[in-house]
Amino acid sequence: MKGISLDKPGGEYSLIETIEKPVPGKKQVLVKSLVTGLNPVEGFQYQGLLVDSWPIVVGCDASGTVVEVGDEVTKFKKGDGAFSCSRLGAPGRGTFQEYLLLDEALAFKRPANVIPEEAATIGVGLLTASLAFFSGLKIPFEPREVNSSVEWVLILGAAGAVGQFAIQLAKLCGYKVLAFCSPQNNELIKKLGADSVLSHKDPPEEQLKGVESITKSNFSRIFDASAMAGEFSMQALAELGEKNKPKYFATTNDWAPVTPREGIDVYIVELGEIGKSGNTNTESVNGDIESFIPKLETLIASGAIKPMGYEQVGDVGVEEVLKGLDAFKTRKSDGKKLIVKLATE
Ligand SMILES: NC(=O)c1ccc[n+]([C@@H]2O[C@H](COP(=O)([O-])OP(=O)(O)OC[C@H]3O[C@@H](n4cnc5c(N)ncnc54)[C@H](OP(=O)(O)O)[C@@H]3O)[C@@H](O)[C@H]2O)c1
Repeated sequence: MKGISLDKPGGEYSLIETIEKPVPGKKQVLVKSLVTGLNPVEGFQYQGLLVDSWPIVVGCDASGTVVEVGDEVTKFKKGDGAFSCSRLGAPGRGTFQEYLLLDEALAFKRPANVIPEEAATIGVGLLTASLAFFSGLKIPFEPREVNSSVEWVLILGAAGAVGQFAIQLAKLCGYKVLAFCSPQNNELIKKLGADSVLSHKDPPEEQLKGVESITKSNFSRIFDASAMAGEFSMQALAELGEKNKPKYFATTNDWAPVTPREGIDVYIVELGEIGKSGNTNTESVNGDIESFIPKLETLIASGAIKPMGYEQVGDVGVEEVLKGLDAFKTRKSDGKKLIVKLATE
């Protein structure tokens, strides 16, 4: 089969036509890769991180059609739409090729109200935000109505792929959202449900004043979806967060630890563990994802969780991934996910 293969860390991406088509294990499905979303993690993998062996086909925001099922698969049948974050950096798992494997327990069934292009915007962002909220910030996964007495949750990087799903989850769980983004994204963020918005471009002292005046210190949870605002978030929680309450900070930054502060529980999202096994942390990440997916599927099917807006790069074909990778390097900050269509159904 065809795929876009990276030969070595820092090497060249090229179209290879002789990649072995993977065979599904008992609890796996073989998916025809129709659309892939593009993500910052591909840049990390290009540098050599999160890759098991070389050469490798990367790409992890999967969306396609099930063409074969393993012997013990019960959730999917041939012809179903499937999407998710696929296992990172392992042969047979990358989305930048014609077919890839997904683990049944870690994959979403695509409902009729979501087209394959939209599905490619969901997996990585929504699973990352879910780990941050339900495993990290210890927010119970129970949709409820917002009322005037509820706490605020602060979301940094709110206009990004992860942040947009974080806003939706926070609102579903009954929180008021104070979101941080660039001013050009204010309208999008408000449409998603943010109650107040601050600019992460303002000086930190001004942002802290904004936090105080908007929340009146009625918050004890911050999610830094941007991976850029760890120290700011810890300062805001420590100095302005509600006194005498446990405080929670979750971050997507798994490469530069924040300075610990007393009374703040720090959770680092490690979506890169998806589909792996072998240690307690990995088992716990995968167990959490497995438990979230059925609830998230219901919310997506009902329209309560919406896919991101997207921009398709190039035409249709595996080789279009190369254009997508180039476009990602100079992408705009407009809240849209870049996607590439590898095939039609
Ligand atoms: N650890 C994990 O498992 C995991 C999983 C997924 C993603 N990640 C990481 O999480 C980060 C976000 O991913 P993504 O897909 O959401 O990326 P993205 O779509 O590029 O969004 C990143 C957002 O960060 C915002 N931002 C940039 N600098 C900021 C700052 N100084 N303070 C606050 N916000 C800032 C930008 O906001 P504006 O556009 O409004 O300026 C942008 O929308 C990436 O670094 C990614 O590698 C980690």
